[in-house]
Amino acid sequence: MASAAEKHPYPQAPTGPSPKARARRQLDLAVRGWFAATVLGQGLFIAFILLFYYTSVFSGDFAAWNAKPMITGYVEGDGTGNQQFALHVLAAAIMTSCGLLQLVPQIRTRWPVLHRWSGRMFLAMAVILSIGGLWLVWVRGSYMTIPGAIAISMDGLLILWFGTMAWITARQRNFATHRRWALRTFIVASGVWFMRVGYVVWGVLTGGAGIERGLSGPFDLFWAFATHLLPLAVLELYLRAERGSPMAQRAMAGGLWLAMVLILGGSLGVWYFRWWPAITA
Ligand code: HEM
Repeated sequence: MASAAEKHPYPQAPTGPSPKARARRQLDLAVRGWFAATVLGQGLFIAFILLFYYTSVFSGDFAAWNAKPMITGYVEGDGTGNQQFALHVLAAAIMTSCGLLQLVPQIRTRWPVLHRWSGRMFLAMAVILSIGGLWLVWVRGSYMTIPGAIAISMDGLLILWFGTMAWITARQRNFATHRRWALRTFIVASGVWFMRVGYVVWGVLTGGAGIERGLSGPFDLFWAFATHLLPLAVLELYLRAERGSPMAQRAMAGGLWLAMVLILGGSLGVWYFRWWPAITA
């Protein structure tokens, strides 16, 4: 029988992972970095809602909402409006927490029952937030500009559309398609959080260029729509890059690292400039 040396008379150069595998690994690492920053940023958002809104709602001190700048907030005598707002902020913390749980791969594989129930809770809260949010805007009149009202309503409608598709595809057990709709739902449902983070990043980087008091400046109008459409465009690029060339995957990884830095900086900034002062006011 021929020995291994006879079969391969020349020693072979050690071969590492292929460029394709390396690019894929870089992309996966960048996704993890982006997710870690998102967990921290949305974790701070949840902490703010619990410490500022849950304490005031459960102690019945609705007037405490107005300790921070609000569009409408608490209005004396407006029982329905105040209750709708209270429901909105209570649902916001639950939906945001469940949304983060849905993206943890270990939960999906090890505890599928938790994934299913947390997914149902996420969707139920997303429906309450979207329909309730539309009511707050168009019935209660909580908006600063008509383009701003249209932009957030568009976000609400996208949440309802994508959420319905995520639910239908999960029921059909079509998991590849479900994953795409679920990610889209997560991104548009994070629109109001991206809005707050983005304002701080832009404010710090440009000194507030294009931001005006009544949220009617050029940046305000742009960001009202871009707050959910821009992250959605990034997600669509990511879904294509996953099946794309190694170069596309490396470029996407670079974009996600940049997003991670902006999210990290913006999240710490919004906590420091807005949420902590409101909690301790
Ligand atoms: C789905 C994710 C959403 C989350 C997590 C969320 C969260 C919040 C939070 C925490 C507040 C309190 C304001 C603050 O302290 O910054 C708020 C207020 C408000 N939200 Fe939402 N929201 C969501 C979706 C929506 C949608 C889709 C709409 C409209 C269609 C909407 C309309 C409003 C309005 C009008 C206010 C009152 C603003 C004021 O009076 O100052 N929200 N939301």
